Amino acid sequence: MEFCTERLILREFTDDDFAAVHRYTSNPDAMKFMLWGPNSEEETRGFLAKVAALAAEEPRTGYELAVTRRDDGALLGGGCLYVTGTNGEIGYCLSPDAWNRGYATEAARELMRYGFEEHRLHRIFATCRPANAGSARVIEKLGMQREGHLREYLYAKGRYHDSLLFSILEEEWRAGQ
Ligand SMILES: CC(C)(COP(=O)(O)OP(=O)(O)OC[C@H]1O[C@@H](n2cnc3c(N)ncnc32)[C@H](O)[C@@H]1OP(=O)(O)O)[C@@H](O)C(=O)NCCC(=O)NCCS
Repeated sequence: MEFCTERLILREFTDDDFAAVHRYTSNPDAMKFMLWGPNSEEETRGFLAKVAALAAEEPRTGYELAVTRRDDGALLGGGCLYVTGTNGEIGYCLSPDAWNRGYATEAARELMRYGFEEHRLHRIFATCRPANAGSARVIEKLGMQREGHLREYLYAKGRYHDSLLFSILEEEWRAGQ
């Protein structure tokens, strides 16, 4: 599984990616709004094992892909799409040195295209924590609409967290193409 965009290649993670993956999964700034991390080395190995198992599932409904730069092959982070029936959920996490260059938006756009065109999804949603302004901006750039504020929706790292919920419908996505 490999997707090419203007500046990126989204591809399967391999065990050889360990060092590049651990660089951002162990970074407290990158993990501030994530439900997991900062990772120990063992946790990052567990993540790579989990994504390999996901890639082997048939039919495939979960995609956790490495986001790499076409120019130099650098691994910038990860992007994901999870399919449940006619709904999809997307997410992303990049290394801080790759932030604010439009990479997450470019990667997520491609995952949305794949979800709508290949999985024939009707709706794709994303969540982010209310304080995660960068992620909320990515979601806005993707053309998603805010659906709600989910109070104490997730339990992680010892407490409950609110989430903002956004989505885009297939017809809205097509209209924006
Ligand atoms: C959220 C994240 C994926 C964004 O990646 P990115 O490649 O920087 O995203 P983009 O460059 O496509 O867009 C970021 C936008 O947010 C804006 N932004 C970034 N930080 C911001 C802040 N603190 N306040 C307001 N806007 C902010 C940027 O200016 C940019 O908007 P613009 O294009 O209008 O200028 C990245 O910061 C990240 O990996 N964070 C850690 C993991 C994470 O939080 N993942 C999301 C979980 S829901």
